[in-house]
Amino acid sequence: MSVANLYPVTEAFAAQALINQDKYKEMYQQSVINPEGFWREQGKRIDWFKPFERVKQTSFDDLHVDIKWYLGGTTNVSYNCLDRHLEARGDQVAIIWEGDEPDQHRHITYRELHEEVCKFSNALRGQGVNRGDVVTIYMPMIPEAAVAMLACTRIGAIHTVVFGGFSPEALAGRIADSESKVVITADEGVRGGKRVPLKANVDEALTNPSTHCVKQVLVVQRTGGQVPWHNHRDVWYHDVMKVASSHCAPKELDAEAPLFILYTSGSTGKPKGVLHTTGGYLVYASMTHEYVFDYKPGEVYWCTADVGWITGHSYMIYGPLANGATTLLYEGIPNYPDVSRIGQIIDKHQVNILYTAPTAIRAMMAEGKKAVEGSSGKSLRLLGSVGEPINPEAWHWYHETVGQSRCPIVDTWWQTETGGILISPLPGATALKPGSATRPFFGVQPALVDNLGNLIEGPAEGNLVILDSWPGQMRSVYGDHDRFVQTYFKTFKGMYFTGDGARRDEDGYYWITGRVDDVLNVSGHRMGTAEIESAMVAHKDVAEAAVVGFPHDIKGQGIYVYVTLNADVEASEALRQELRQWVRKEIGPIASPDVIQWAPGLPKTRSGKIMRRILRKIAVGEYSALGDISTLADPAVVQQLVDTHQGMQ
Ligand code: WT7
Repeated sequence: MSVANLYPVTEAFAAQALINQDKYKEMYQQSVINPEGFWREQGKRIDWFKPFERVKQTSFDDLHVDIKWYLGGTTNVSYNCLDRHLEARGDQVAIIWEGDEPDQHRHITYRELHEEVCKFSNALRGQGVNRGDVVTIYMPMIPEAAVAMLACTRIGAIHTVVFGGFSPEALAGRIADSESKVVITADEGVRGGKRVPLKANVDEALTNPSTHCVKQVLVVQRTGGQVPWHNHRDVWYHDVMKVASSHCAPKELDAEAPLFILYTSGSTGKPKGVLHTTGGYLVYASMTHEYVFDYKPGEVYWCTADVGWITGHSYMIYGPLANGATTLLYEGIPNYPDVSRIGQIIDKHQVNILYTAPTAIRAMMAEGKKAVEGSSGKSLRLLGSVGEPINPEAWHWYHETVGQSRCPIVDTWWQTETGGILISPLPGATALKPGSATRPFFGVQPALVDNLGNLIEGPAEGNLVILDSWPGQMRSVYGDHDRFVQTYFKTFKGMYFTGDGARRDEDGYYWITGRVDDVLNVSGHRMGTAEIESAMVAHKDVAEAAVVGFPHDIKGQGIYVYVTLNADVEASEALRQELRQWVRKEIGPIASPDVIQWAPGLPKTRSGKIMRRILRKIAVGEYSALGDISTLADPAVVQQLVDTHQGMQ
C-alpha cells in the first residue's frame, strides 16, 4: 500500500474499537461466502415477535426482480427503538433537541419518548389511520417529527417525510403520488432565525385537486404564529395528545411490511417513491450505525441531516434508536447565529460522534478557524461525511481543524435506495485515504462494469454496481414496480446499478467519481436535471430548457440552466430573476438555478437528443474541449452559446 496520504488506524483507536482489521476481514469473508448464515446471525440484533423462517429470497434478474428478507418473521420498529430499551435504559436520554436559538434545548428520555409515541399512535388511530395507510410528514426538526415517524411504525402506517424546504407544489405531488390520508405538520418551522410557513404551505398544497385523498391535517404548535384554520380538517397535536391514552401495543408486522416511502430524484420523470420495508431495513440501519460509527452505549451521537432525507431516517432516528443511543436533533442551520455554532453544540452536549456533509464542512472551512473558535471539541472521537465525494482539501480541514488530527473520518457512500451505508471505512479497521469511501460494508459486493456491462477486475474505473442484495435495499418504487426494475436492473443485467461512477485503486479502495446519469448533487441533495427542466418549461415564457451541473466551491455542484425563450419574449435581468423565483416555487429553494444563460437554440442530435456533454463544457468555459459536434442537427448553435457564455464572464 502506498503510504502517501494514508492514515492508518491509530493504536489507541483500534484498541477500543468494535471491529479491528482482522475482525473486518474475517467477518467480510463470512458475509459473502455464506450470506444466509451471516445475516441469520445479524437478524438477531432486533427483537422479533415471531422468528423469521427464511433469511433471504432475492433476485436481481430483470425478468423477476424480487427482494425479500427475514421472511415469515414479525416485528415492530417502534418496539425495537423504544420498548425494548425501557428496562435497561428507560431514563437514559434518547433525543437531545437543540433549538434554532442557542438558549433552547430539551432532553427526552427513552421512557418519555415511548410515552409520547404511544399517545400519538392512539391519536393517529383516533383520526382513522390504520395499518397500511400513508401519512405525509412535513415537519421542522423538532422531536415531534421523530414521534410522528415512530408512531406510524407502531401502528403499521407508512410514513413519507417531505423535506420542509420543498414548495407546496412539490409537496402536493408527493401527497398525491402516495395517496396520503393524513398530513402531519407544524404551524411554522424555525431555521436560522427565519420562520418557515409550513402550515400555510400545506394549505396551499391541499388546494390542488390531486390531494383530495387527505382527510386530516395534524398541526404541532412550534412558534404559536397565526395560521389559517379549517375546522373540518385541521387538528392541533396538543389537543389530541391531551386526551390520548399512553398505552398502545405495538402492532405485530410482517418483516416485509412497508415501513416508509421517501421521494428521490432520478434522471427522468417525476421523483420516485423509494419503498423501504420493516425487518431488513432495521437490521441494516442498526448494524451499520453501530459498526461504521463504532457506537458504544452512553455516547452522544450527532447527525446533522434533516429528517426529510434518508440520512435523517437511518442515522438520526432508526439506526441510533434501535441501538439505544443518544441522538442529537438540531433544528437550525450550521452557521446561525454564526459559523461557530457547530463547535458550540459539540461542547454544550459533549458530542462524541459527528456525522455531516462536505457542503457544511466547506462552508465552515471558508471562514477558516472561526468555526472552532471558542469551543474545545475535546469530546469528539469520530467524524463522518456523507452525501457527495469529499474533496481532499475539505477532508484535511475536517480532520485537522474539527477532529484535531485525532478523530478518524468515515466517508460513507450510500443512497436513498440502499437504506444504509454500503461503502465506508470501519474506523478501527480501515486505513483512510482522503477522498475515498474505501471498502464495502459486510455483505456488500460492489463491482465495476464497462458501458456494455462487462465486469472489470483490478484497479480500474467504471460504472458502480452491486452484485447481490443486502437487507436495507429498497424493495420497489411505490406504486410502480416496473419503474423500479427499469431504473436499477435493466442497464446492466443481473446487477443493481447505482447510477454512480467509481474508480478502484491498487489496494481495492473505491473512489466515487460522481453520477454518470443526469442527476445533480447540489449541497448533498439530489436533483434531477429533468425535474428542473420541466419546472422551467412550465413557465409561460419558456420554450425549452436544458440543465447541467458545474463545479461549485461550497455546494459541490451548482445548477446551470440554458433557456430558450418563446419567440415573442425579450430576455431581461428581470425575467432571469422571475425564472429563479419560479423554480423555487415549483420545487423549492434547493433547486434554485445558480446561472441562467439565454440560448437561442440548444445543441441537439438529428434525433432531437440534447447533447449535455457540450453544454457542460460551455458552462465551465472549456470551449476547446467540445469534442465532435458534426453530428449535431445545427452545429452553429454551439458558437452562439460559446459567445453568450463569454459575454457573461
Ligand atoms: C448519491 C445518493 C446517502 C445519503 C445522502 C445522499 C452521492 C452519497 C457519497 C459519498 C461520494 C456520495 C452519490 C449517490 N453520494 N454519499 N460518501 N461519496 N458520493 O442520498 O440523495 O440518495 O444521493 O449521493 O452520487 O448516488 P441520495
